[in-house]
Amino acid sequence: MFDGIAPRYDLANHLLSGGVDFYWRWRATGTVERWGARRILDLATGSGDLALAIQRRMPQAEVTGADFSTEMLARARAKGLTRTTAADALALPFEDGSFDCVTVAFGLRNMSDWAAAIREMARVVREGGHLLVLDFSVPVPLLRPAYRVYLHRCLPALASLVTGRRDAYEYLAASIEEFPSGGTMTRLIDANGFASARATPFTGGIATMYTAEKSKAFV
Ligand SMILES: C[S@@+](CC[C@H](N)C(=O)[O-])C[C@H]1O[C@@H](n2cnc3c(N)ncnc32)[C@H](O)[C@@H]1O
Repeated sequence: MFDGIAPRYDLANHLLSGGVDFYWRWRATGTVERWGARRILDLATGSGDLALAIQRRMPQAEVTGADFSTEMLARARAKGLTRTTAADALALPFEDGSFDCVTVAFGLRNMSDWAAAIREMARVVREGGHLLVLDFSVPVPLLRPAYRVYLHRCLPALASLVTGRRDAYEYLAASIEEFPSGGTMTRLIDANGFASARATPFTGGIATMYTAEKSKAFV
């Protein structure tokens, strides 16, 4: 599916989010910068927007983008991401503790086993390293009725005009409704190799950033 929408993925993202995705990635990038990470893995990097934002803000860092869609990775490379790896997030080709930090933006939701994916992220992060997950969430109750009209009716129709793939955006809407958020997500992260997970909602809870440190007990 992601191979199919790769050519129009960026345009659709920025149009359909009204550009607010730039702000969300900017907030995520600031968090990674405060951690002072040097070896960073951006998982499900797609067309590389988060990896490139981190690389621009932290030029000394080594940022690797990994994804299993070769078309999306080709877009990321064309935009200037030099370190890319074609890989499945559930079986990463990296040694234990290879990275100071793993980031994953709008990617975990799409994986077939969230707990296994988080454990694999914990495996490749060094002790004391960090995880940052940025993804959609269902917003605060006041915004929900309007948000759901946009998500289930307007977004698939608009996206099909931009990408020609209505099915991909119907899938997006369904996946957002199913994806755990808030305390459910922080517990999932803490149960799978990390500790002290925190949720920071953005834009009324339309997106949430989760941060955590690798648990000392993870083996
Ligand atoms: C919605 S895009 C997000 C791309 C980018 N991180 C962003 O913020 O725009 C989701 C990406 O996750 C990738 N993906 C989904 N499941 C994956 C898996 N198991 N392993 C690697 N990549 C995966 C898809 O190929 C796609 O490029």
